[in-house]
Amino acid sequence: SHFPNGDLWVFGYGSLIWKPPPHYDQRVPGYIDGYVRRFWQLAKVESESASTGKVWGAAYHIPSSHAEEVHDYLDEREIDGYSVHYTPFHPFSEGSTMVAGDLAPIICMVYIGQPSNPQFLRDPAQREPQDVAQFISAGHGQSGKGTEYLYLLEKSLQGLGLGTADVHVTDLVRRVKAIEAVGEGEEEEREAE
Ligand code: BEZ
Repeated sequence: SHFPNGDLWVFGYGSLIWKPPPHYDQRVPGYIDGYVRRFWQLAKVESESASTGKVWGAAYHIPSSHAEEVHDYLDEREIDGYSVHYTPFHPFSEGSTMVAGDLAPIICMVYIGQPSNPQFLRDPAQREPQDVAQFISAGHGQSGKGTEYLYLLEKSLQGLGLGTADVHVTDLVRRVKAIEAVGEGEEEEREAE
């Protein structure tokens, strides 16, 4: 087992950052390596292997008394097509910023969307940032309105600490805000008519 003590560490990079799992007793900001956060599956945040960057998020510790219950809860909440990976999580503490290896990594459970997932956006044409922004703005997705999700994600990443922004997320926020501004302008024109 990955957690011989019976406890559980879960890394969240999407809605889990602002909507924690129940019964957690520690929340630690930090990152994982070797994944990339994308909006390629419905309006949810995606990760797939083979990348160079860090994916920032928060790790939650679930004590052994609730590990099984929370594991089952997350399976229900998150699992639709996601795969469970176990990967080293690097805790981040301000002050020791970005100093590699000063805090021991923790093996965490993480939900990964893989290209083999039937819901994964496989067509590269659909992954064009402007198309993804249109899609998010149109409000598709299972975890609430796409724009709300995107804005919450950006805010939550800012809340983790300095240097935890994600260019893919901030670029999408910029595009979605531009689309929404055009939409509001058109609405004002209609009202003025
Ligand atoms: C996450 O926040 O890590 C997450 C949320 C929903 C599905 C998969 C992962």
